Amino acid sequence: MVGGLAGLGAAAQAGKERVAVTDARGFADAMAGTGDDWGIISRAVEGPSYLLNSVRGDGLTRVEQMRTNLSAARRFLSDRGQAEAVQGIDRTLAALGGLRVVLALAEPDQSAAGEGVDAVSDACAACHARFREGSEQTGFRARPGLLE
Ligand code: HEC
Repeated sequence: MVGGLAGLGAAAQAGKERVAVTDARGFADAMAGTGDDWGIISRAVEGPSYLLNSVRGDGLTRVEQMRTNLSAARRFLSDRGQAEAVQGIDRTLAALGGLRVVLALAEPDQSAAGEGVDAVSDACAACHARFREGSEQTGFRARPGLLE
């Protein structure tokens, strides 16, 4: 557990916030930041340190950072008329809103948090299945026409 906490500290600077996305590169950066924050949150929800207020507080900060990055990606997609992809982001933001409520409970509820994490992961995965191509081996990229 001590190792886990040290890991959290070292990773504190993960997920960078992008207020504006203006091109495909910016979109990929916003997604990379989203993925960094998400990895830290989802691991914390599964571990014993979830019971610490500081860990849940860090999760709330990261949820806000994810919302900032996903909202910037959403604006870019909306400006490009990508209505279905915008819906995918909206579904993810709604699931994140549910997780935020659970993380903010005064009495930690780890099983509810696990369900909240699953709902967000499902939303991410649905959008990736529809709008991303590639594999772990080759690397992933947006489907042609989405960003460029
Ligand atoms: C618009 C629907 C959409 C949603 C919703 C979405 N993504 Fe993505 N994501 C993409 C696309 C498209 C790419 C590929 C971007 C590129 O060309 O590099 C991507 C790329 C990524 C990457 C970069 C590495 C990789 O595997 O491609 C990460 C990490 C990532 N997303 C995490 C997430 C997480 C975590 C969530 C949910 C909290 C999420 N995304 C939600 C569309 C989405």
